[in-house]
Amino acid sequence: MSGRGFPGNREDEDLSTHKATVHKATVKAPPNIAFIKYWGARDLERAIPFNPSISMTLERCYSRCTVEWLDQDGEHDIKWRGGGGGFEAAPPAFAERIRAHLDRLRLWAGVGGCFRVATENSFPAAAGLASSASGFAALTLATTRALGHNLAVSELSSLARASGSGSAARSVLGGYVEWPSGDSAEACHAYQLAPADHWSLCDVIALVETGPKAVSSLDGHRRAESSPYFVRRQELLPGRLEAVREAITDRDFARLGSVLEAEAIDLHCVAMTSQPPIFYWQPGTLSVLAAIRQLRRDGVAAYATMDAGANVHTLCQPDDAECVATRLGELEAVGDVISDRVGPGPEIQDEHLF
Ligand code: DP6
Repeated sequence: MSGRGFPGNREDEDLSTHKATVHKATVKAPPNIAFIKYWGARDLERAIPFNPSISMTLERCYSRCTVEWLDQDGEHDIKWRGGGGGFEAAPPAFAERIRAHLDRLRLWAGVGGCFRVATENSFPAAAGLASSASGFAALTLATTRALGHNLAVSELSSLARASGSGSAARSVLGGYVEWPSGDSAEACHAYQLAPADHWSLCDVIALVETGPKAVSSLDGHRRAESSPYFVRRQELLPGRLEAVREAITDRDFARLGSVLEAEAIDLHCVAMTSQPPIFYWQPGTLSVLAAIRQLRRDGVAAYATMDAGANVHTLCQPDDAECVATRLGELEAVGDVISDRVGPGPEIQDEHLF
């Protein structure tokens, strides 16, 4: 299957010839794993976060989305494929979020009509693996192309953010990405800190749970401020953001790892102490965290981070990835291990899902 990158992501591509005139487009977009997380919003409707976040875009996991724009009245037709089976009606809550974003993009473009959408994930959805980030990034990129727009990556990031899945703002870019917390049009889109080939890091994802999470990130953002530790985390973040930026620039893995692990634990402390509390961790999460500490004692540089779910992302360097995957895969609590790494970001595909 052939693929092309987006402007600002893959520098070797000349996209000037790719002005979309067709009304159908397919885009494959990866999830991202945040080193410094988005948790709590100043304006949740518009996904304006309290704090900047920094992430690494993955390569192997992806959402793929085909969008067709029909210049006729009617309901949007949304199909979804979660696993290996065929396409079916998307789960109601997810379909509603997709529908709302399609309406938003239609309004933005100043057009009528309706959309046919098919979307699929290569990995379990809604389990803290950022399927919303990749899904809404792919949906935004495919819809704008199907409408004939060939936008700058900053505008694509803003539009993806407006989906309500704020982390989708980061998934339109490859490599290492920062999403600032500003409120203005110029300050609410993500930008690339460094391309994927700047630093080859791996993410070994230990799956301890693949069902949907009990509390959505949206509810987590809503409750974040009710935690007594919310303000303390905000106080710590400027120093941590700077440390992560510097660690990426200097390719200093030990520094990056210690900050990202502390940050993940703090985020979950905020979640566990919010009103009402949110416990994303499962017993399996703790056994993976213990195994990662043991790996470090054995001389393997591996560090953990968890999004809004029980699964553990283990950041490590390429030479250690196999050993980390083997050790974590041996744990009774771990059902599966996904070995991923930093990647160059979304791509346009010529082959459509329908
Ligand atoms: C913990 O509001 O972007 O992953 O819509 O579920 O993707 P979804 O969540 P979103 O919040 C992300 C929360 C987080 C941290 C992060 O990725 O920054």
